[in-house]
Amino acid sequence: MTEIELIIDLHKNSKRQGPGSERETLKALDFTGLSGINNLKIADIGCGSGGQTITLAQNLSAEITAVDLFPEFLDELNKKSEKLGLKGKIKTLHKSMDDLTFNNEEFDLLWSEGAIYNLGFKNGIQKWADFLKVSGYLAVSEITWITNSRPKEIEEFWMQEYPEIDIASNKIKILENNGFSLAGYFYLRKDSWIQNYYKPLEARFDNFLKRNNFSELAKKIVKENKTEIELYKKYNDYYSYGFYIAKKN
Ligand SMILES: C[S@@+](CC[C@H](N)C(=O)[O-])C[C@H]1O[C@@H](n2cnc3c(N)ncnc32)[C@H](O)[C@@H]1O
Repeated sequence: MTEIELIIDLHKNSKRQGPGSERETLKALDFTGLSGINNLKIADIGCGSGGQTITLAQNLSAEITAVDLFPEFLDELNKKSEKLGLKGKIKTLHKSMDDLTFNNEEFDLLWSEGAIYNLGFKNGIQKWADFLKVSGYLAVSEITWITNSRPKEIEEFWMQEYPEIDIASNKIKILENNGFSLAGYFYLRKDSWIQNYYKPLEARFDNFLKRNNFSELAKKIVKENKTEIELYKKYNDYYSYGFYIAKKN
C-alpha cells in the first residue's frame, strides 16, 4: 500500500478524521442564523466520513453536497446517512476541492471542518467564494495559534507541517480582504481533540499495524501521529482549530 492508502486505512471506520464535535458544529451553525430557513443548499468540502455532515443534515432543512477526494470516506457517509434516513438530504461527490465545478452563487452555506488546509486558507477562500450567494455564509475550521508567541519546539513543528498557521486576527484579515465579514469566531475545546479524535485514533494503532504486517511505512505513520499527539498534549495552550464563520458581502 502507498502512504496515502495507509493513511486512509488508519482513518476509515472512525467517526471523525479530525478534531471537532457535534456541539461545536452546532455552535458554528448558530452564528449563521440559517436554522429556521427552508430548502438551503450547502456544500460540505473535505467532509471525510461526514461527522459534521450528519449534524448539519439533522439540524437544517437542506440539500447537502458532501465532497471528498477519497471514495472510502464517502462510502461510509452514504451508509450512515442511509441508516439514519438522511439519504434524501445528503448527496456525496467524489472530487478534489481544488477542482470544484459548482455554479456561481449556488450555495447558501459552504462548510469545511479541518480540511481547507489542503488548499491553504487564503487559496481555498478565494477558490470557493464564487460558489456562495451574496449574504451566504462560509464556516471553516483551520489550525490557528491561540497566543502571539509560543515555544520554539511547537513553532518549528507547525511551521514545517503547515506554514500558513497563524493567529486568528490574520486569518480574519484574509476573510475581510476577500469579500467576507466575520460573523463569529471561537476555537475548539481540548475535548474535541483528545476525546473525539486522538483517543479513538490511538485505539486503532495496534490493529492498523497488525493488518499492515508492521510495515516500515505503517510504523512511520503511527510514529508521526504519536509525535503530533504528544505535542498537542504538551502545547495545547498555544494552538487549536479556530472556527471562522463569515458572511459574503
Ligand atoms: C482532517 S480531515 C477532516 C474530515 C472531516 N471534515 C472531519 O472533520 O472529520 C480532512 C479531509 O479532507 C479530505 N481531503 C484531502 N485532500 C482533499 C482534496 N484535495 N479534495 C477534497 N477532499 C480532500 C480528506 O480525505 C479528509 O476527509
